[in-house]
Amino acid sequence: MKRLIAFSIAPLLAIAVLSTPASADAIADRQALMKDQGKAIGSIAPIAKGEKPFDAATVMTALKKLNDDAQKLDVATLFPAGSDKGDTTASPKIWEDNAGFVAAVAKYKADTAAAVAADPKDLESFKTAFSQVTKNCGTCHEGFRIKKN
Ligand code: HEC
Repeated sequence: MKRLIAFSIAPLLAIAVLSTPASADAIADRQALMKDQGKAIGSIAPIAKGEKPFDAATVMTALKKLNDDAQKLDVATLFPAGSDKGDTTASPKIWEDNAGFVAAVAKYKADTAAAVAADPKDLESFKTAFSQVTKNCGTCHEGFRIKKN
């Protein structure tokens, strides 16, 4: 009986050891990047909504931060195969349609870079850049993120 248990548990442990460390780091790393982006957006959303006055320096700092974070989104490193398991809301679609996900990340990077290059100097141009960037958040979350309650 003891033998039987040892035999049946060993493969499970091997799987845990092989799969946990890399994916756990990738999940934590990508969530930290996403959270940081959320903070950057949070700092300028009130300006886009007209709740706070436009300030070119505040806007530029946030857009640069966002772009820096976006450019760090390396799909192969941060979304390795198997990292849909664990404390994550990443959808299996990321791996089922990896080309689609890679394209979504590439578009996001291009849009955040364009927002920085636009260097908005007034509310109207900022709003344009802001909506162009934030469309990516919603579209990608809808397609490649699962809702967990
Ligand atoms: C190309 C796809 C993509 C884009 C673009 C994107 N996200 Fe995400 N985001 C994800 C995925 C996938 C997750 C789930 C990560 C996980 O749980 O492993 C996520 C998770 C998050 C989270 C939760 C992080 C946590 O702690 O669990 C926040 C906050 C977030 N995103 C904010 C944003 C904001 C703000 C933007 C736009 C400025 C954005 N994201 C753009 C794919 C994207």
